[in-house]
Amino acid sequence: MIDRIKEILAAVESFQPKSIEEVEEFRLKYLSKKGLIPALFDDFRNVPAEQKKEVGAEINILKQKATDKLNELKDALTVNAEGKIELDLTRPGDPFKIGSRHPLSIVRNEIISIFTRLGFIVADGPEIEDDNHNFGKLNFPQDHPARDMQDTFFISPDMNVLLRTHTSSVQAHEMSELKPPIRSLSPGRVYRNEAISARAHCLFHQIEGLYVDKNVSFADLKQTLDYFAKEMFGEHTKIRMRPSYFPFTEPSAEVDVSCTLCGGKGCNVCKGTGWLEILGCGMVDPNVFEAAGIDPEIYTGFAFGMGIERITMLKYGIRDLRLFFENDIRFLNQFTAAI
Ligand code: PHE
Repeated sequence: MIDRIKEILAAVESFQPKSIEEVEEFRLKYLSKKGLIPALFDDFRNVPAEQKKEVGAEINILKQKATDKLNELKDALTVNAEGKIELDLTRPGDPFKIGSRHPLSIVRNEIISIFTRLGFIVADGPEIEDDNHNFGKLNFPQDHPARDMQDTFFISPDMNVLLRTHTSSVQAHEMSELKPPIRSLSPGRVYRNEAISARAHCLFHQIEGLYVDKNVSFADLKQTLDYFAKEMFGEHTKIRMRPSYFPFTEPSAEVDVSCTLCGGKGCNVCKGTGWLEILGCGMVDPNVFEAAGIDPEIYTGFAFGMGIERITMLKYGIRDLRLFFENDIRFLNQFTAAI
């Protein structure tokens, strides 16, 4: 009996009418009172009890598919003046599911879109760097711990060629190669020799911002980041700056946003503090300007850098960084975006 059902199903599925009469013949043959499918329901009485469940389910599927097909054919076909059928060309297309962007791409595009509204342009830089652009020009002393083997993946034995550890290396290129005013945004992959866990990975993504011009002040930096935080996390978001240290900025700060989950009241995501750290920033150090050939007496500037994974985790409440790299379709399917 199962074979017979499968045979009829195959015939139903492959049926292609050439005329409206053939659609009617289809209905008579399969679905009318004396048709093949009602006949199966009659035969069903003789099916042994232990097979009834399986056979019953198959017949129901067949009936549903034949009914759907008939409705579809009736909808799709119209008759032209000569009585021939033709496809209804005004019928809207069947929607089909297109792929979705990776959550990191969605957030990167959103960050770019916010800063391009402020006049920043996107600047690219190499992932394989020399020591000078990753460290030297950025005012890292020769014995700075960040140059240590534990953090940096070196490529050449003399430790001069390496995988960039931050997108600040693009700043070093931009400032050496362009004349101010410079307003650039540099997204990209960075690499650090760290054990992989829910909070750290050896490969992650950063986005770097740089603004160099006459009279750029710390107030400009704060206002720019306040605008960013409100655009990214909602208009009620507050920021606070804490003093920090980076070799390439002076003064330097770390920026927190009011907790995206509790709004600042204190919860387990912000560990009761009401604040979440999102980025590092500061005023470009005069030594960095000098190394790039820009006169620090004339120009000032600010820079900031943030981890795209971190922003994405805060925005979507994702608790494990490794999810971004496993590419499990059940995870990725949950994200849709216009950009
Ligand atoms: N490069 C720093 C980091 O990777 C972030 C930063 C960028 C800080 C620009 C200040 C200015 O942590």
